[in-house]
Amino acid sequence: MVLKARELRKDYLRAGKKGMSFTAVHPLDLEVSASEVVVIRGHSGSGKSTLLAMLAGMLLPTSGRVLLGGDDLYALDEAALSRLRNERIGVIPQGNSALRSLSVLENVMLPSMIRGGGATRVRAEELLEELGIAQLADSSPQELSGGELRRAAVARALLLGPETVLADEPTAGLDTKNSRIVLEVIRRAADAGAAVLLVSHEEEAQSVADRVLTMEDGVLRA
Ligand SMILES: Nc1ncnc2c1ncn2[C@@H]1O[C@H](COP(=O)(O)OP(=O)(O)OP(=O)(O)O)[C@@H](O)[C@H]1O
Ligand SMILES: [Mg+2]
Repeated sequence: MVLKARELRKDYLRAGKKGMSFTAVHPLDLEVSASEVVVIRGHSGSGKSTLLAMLAGMLLPTSGRVLLGGDDLYALDEAALSRLRNERIGVIPQGNSALRSLSVLENVMLPSMIRGGGATRVRAEELLEELGIAQLADSSPQELSGGELRRAAVARALLLGPETVLADEPTAGLDTKNSRIVLEVIRRAADAGAAVLLVSHEEEAQSVADRVLTMEDGVLRA
């Protein structure tokens, strides 16, 4: 088991209602193995992105734990958690997360710039090629379509060959052909050993899944 959630829960303050909170993710256990793709479906607002952000080490749970390999994410100090997030977790966030001041290639190479050490330019170019956006390497993110930005985000998440890949609607806004490409690239990351969690409404995502779970009002069901 690479990625585990134990009794993981998130409460938020309800917007506009002072001091009132609600549970966006009810205590849940989840395990994703190496080479496994788990797809999570569910209605808008059911808690999928909240769960994914907690698993990614980006959102402090109200209670419970997230374990990656032998590491308990929220028991680490901030520096260790940042390093782990950058090197061992590949996140494809919902929406556009590109930095406008960098080129597409530089955006993809960010994880290696943060890590320092060996250049990964060749790997970055390879991923752009696989994702069909090699010709956009030197463009600025502002010049890309939504679907092209999504593919650049996929390349960045996979750059360092992370142990776990957490993808939030990675095929949103893509046509069938490019959805397929993205799903196949993600599937290959799993085949190479990554534990993959994929949030997606799209039927097609299920074709690369080993397991499909459904989130309903903060409760995860098989
Ligand atoms: N920072 C926040 N503060 C308060 N409430 C929040 C916060 N983030 C999300 N929520 C609420 O928590 C619930 C779950 O949100 P979440 O973004 O996890 O849903 P989702 O399943 O990813 O939805 P979608 O499919 O639209 O992306 C929603 O009711 C949302 O309004
Ligand atoms: Mg979401």
